Order: sequence, then C-alpha cells, then structure tokens
Amino acid sequence: MPEASYDIVIRGGTVATASDVFAADVGIIGEQIGALGARLGPGKREIDARGRYVLPGGVDGHCHIEQLTAAGIVNADSWESATTSAAFGGTTTVVAFAAQHVGTELPKVVEDYSALAKKGALIDYAFHAIVADPTERLIKHDLPAAIKGGIGSVKLFMTYDRLRVQDESVLDILMTARENGALVCAHAENHGMIAWMGKRLVERGYIAPKYHIVSHPRAAESEAFERLIRLAALVDQPIMIFHVSTAEGAAIIRRARGEGLKVFAETCPQYLFMTAKDLDRPGLEGSKWMCSPPPRDVSDQQALWRALALGDLQQVSSDHAPFPFDDTGKLKAGPGASFKQIANGQPGLETRLPLLFDAMVSKDGPGLSKFVSITATEPAKTYNLHPKKGTITIGADADIVLWNPKTKVTLKDAMMHSKAGYTPFAGRTVTGWPETVLRRGAVIVSDSRLSANAGSGRYLPRSGGEAAKPAGILAPEMDPRRNFGAKLF
Ligand code: URP
Ligand code: ZN
Ligand code: ZN
Repeated sequence: MPEASYDIVIRGGTVATASDVFAADVGIIGEQIGALGARLGPGKREIDARGRYVLPGGVDGHCHIEQLTAAGIVNADSWESATTSAAFGGTTTVVAFAAQHVGTELPKVVEDYSALAKKGALIDYAFHAIVADPTERLIKHDLPAAIKGGIGSVKLFMTYDRLRVQDESVLDILMTARENGALVCAHAENHGMIAWMGKRLVERGYIAPKYHIVSHPRAAESEAFERLIRLAALVDQPIMIFHVSTAEGAAIIRRARGEGLKVFAETCPQYLFMTAKDLDRPGLEGSKWMCSPPPRDVSDQQALWRALALGDLQQVSSDHAPFPFDDTGKLKAGPGASFKQIANGQPGLETRLPLLFDAMVSKDGPGLSKFVSITATEPAKTYNLHPKKGTITIGADADIVLWNPKTKVTLKDAMMHSKAGYTPFAGRTVTGWPETVLRRGAVIVSDSRLSANAGSGRYLPRSGGEAAKPAGILAPEMDPRRNFGAKLF
C-alpha cells in the first residue's frame, strides 16, 4: 500500500468555483486544501464524490445571531443553534453583528459578543460592528480601535427607532471607516416615511401583518439609497447596501456603479422567492414572513435576478433574524398586536443555499459558477476573507460541501435546526441538497448528523481589504476635493 499523501481525498466529484467547473479530486492536508487533480494519491480517509458537486462552503455575510435587535429582544438562535442550522444548510462561514445600542460602549459590546460566539460557534465567523450611538468617543476612539482589532466592516441603520443614525452621523461613520480602512454596510430605508405611514395605518385600524408592507413604501428604499450613495460619494467611501428589495433600488445601484462609485449590494432569498402576498394570512400568521424591507412583487424578483446577473448586486445573504411564532418572539406583544409591535425578520441560514441551488442550478438558471459566486466567493471577497474562504483552491481552508444534485427535499418546519421553529419556505420542494459538509478539513455534517462541537468555530479577524479602499475614480464633478479642498480629507 502506498503511504497516504493526504488526510482526506474527496474523489471523483465535479468541482466548481466562481469561474470554472471541472472534474477533480481534492486532497486535504490538515485544515487546508493541498491538491486538486486527477487520480490523486491515497488519503487516510477517502470520500466518494461520484455524482456530487464539490463546492466551497457558503459564506453568509449578513446574519443576526444571539443579538439584541431593533425590537428590543434577542434573536431566537444562540451561536450554537444558528451555526448548526448554517452547517446543515451548507454554510461554513458567517458574518454576524456585534451590535451597539444607545448608551452601550462598543469595546464592551465586542467583548461580550466575542465571548458568546467563542462559546457557541461551530463554524468560522467574523463580525460587523453596528454603530447606533455615534458619540465623539466612539467616532474618535472606539470605532477606529474596533476596526484595527479585526472588525473590518461597520453597519449603520437609517431606520428603526432604537438604531437609526442621522445624516451627520452617517458622514462621521463613513469618514471614520475611510480613515481606518473599513467597509460601511447599511440598512437604508427612509425612517420618516415608514414612521408616518405606520402611524396612519394603525390609527385607522389597519394593523394586520400585511400592512407592514404598506408602511414600508418602495420610495423609502429609493430615497435612502440615493441619500446614502451621495453621502458616501462626498467622502469617497465604499458602501455595501443590504437587502435590496425593489427594482428601483437595483436601478439606483446600477447608476451609481456606472458613475464610478464603489457601491456593493446584496439581496436575500425573501426578495427573490417571496412576494407581498406571503404576508396576507389570517390573524398574525403573516408575521412569520415579516421582515424589513418587506418582500415585494414578481416584477421586483425579476429585476433582482437581472441585477445579480449583471453584477449590480454581487451576493445573496440570508439576513437570518429568527423569532419564534410564540409569545417569546413574533407574538410577544399579544394576540391583538399591530404590525408595528411585531419583531422583524425571518430565519434563513439553513435554506439560503438549497433555495438558490434549486433556482440557479437545478432549474437551469444562471448555473453553478454563478451560484458559487453569489453565495460564497463574492461575500468572501467583499468581507476580505478570500481566498481563505469562499473558493476551492490550493491553500484555502478546506470548507467544502458535497452537493447531491438529484436529492429532492420538501422543506418542513420540523427539519430546521434554528430555534425559530419554522421556515417561511415550508412546503417548497427543492432539488439539490448539501449532503456532506467539511469545515477546515473536518467532516461536520454527514448522513444528516452533526459532528462538531459548540466552540469549535474560529474567529476570523480581518481588515476592510480591497473592497474598503476608496474608489479614487470619481468623475471630476463629484470629487469632494473640488468643493472643499484636499485638506478636509
Ligand atoms: O427584518 C429584518 N431584516 N430584520 C433584521 C434586521 C435588519 O433590518 O436587517
Ligand atoms: Zn436590515
Ligand atoms: Zn439584517
């Protein structure tokens, strides 16, 4: 017997990256990919991948895990349950939020959140820092320190009473990010429109979950996107616009990118697969589908798919924000609650990849490489985790998922590992399933069983990297120095 050259060989599968699909064996040495090729030598362990796609583990750049939310309650999932749910869905890296709230200090927020993640995570993880209280101390000291300490992206909210920041503070955050090399991510909706609409609807007795959609007008998204883009352009700071839901929003991003502005953007399965009709259910049932921004129309779904194809949107995250359908979560305000009193968000870590695989690969959509691109490679690049994460290449972490393209699964609440206790996609049948999942060379899911311990996930400190570098290619009329002089910057 020849001596084993690899710890594991994944043999006979079809490997896909964001650019290529090819037949190859994958040799794993320790935690990393050591070789790709035909007829690799033996491994101490051999995994038969015939008839399987061998893809990089998913990277989910937007998940709320064990986080105090805008609704003032903590998401249902602990780090352990969230990352278990991610692993079963083929995701091996998450970026979650160390969330500052008004009156809390960012260093303490990061310290506490790190401790929760260290204890519970069983896949690898990085953080965005949410800034909700941009005091002078935070802007001058705490945020630069957090960025230097490995949190390469900052998130701000333009809506939600507890979290939103005003335009001047948005500029402070953008400028601080620029000076320290971080990317700025945003929930961009016009707060005034949402508050005003919500109040009038509730006053008139329109309180069912479906009115949540009416209270988030499409224009709230367009207005905030435009404003955020112009604020970012003023200081030439790259931004990532979260959860694009409308055709108009996608068009605004396209135009901004065409102007040379460094605007990245994502959408989520809820905007690609759901519509406003999903919230129109008896009683409070529709609250299971409530998220902000809300799902829109079929024509928006089509526009978002087009924007993904064109590259105007580069990734699809889950925006996992789970609340159970009981009095600890969605129904916390009681059976007579108005939509204004119901926590926003849906579980999605576990279903993101199967839904997209089904639509993009099984149903003859944009194909396997584009699937890998928007679910793994682009999020890894945007958040400066690539090429360690998000691809299959020599030297990358062996975060690998074996997909069986033939397995048909009808999604059910009881199958899910999130503590939300339901999936908004229950009843949908998808073709293609993540059968075996490896994280840094260890098999963590096989035969529908988990074999990873809480706390075995590893923190990924990172700088803002390439995505966070100012564009520097602004049209002369938009160059802030033309208006204010170079000294300001
Ligand atoms: O409804 C949502 N999306 N909840 C999570 C928080 C956010 O706005 O991203
Ligand atoms: Zn949001
Ligand atoms: Zn979110």
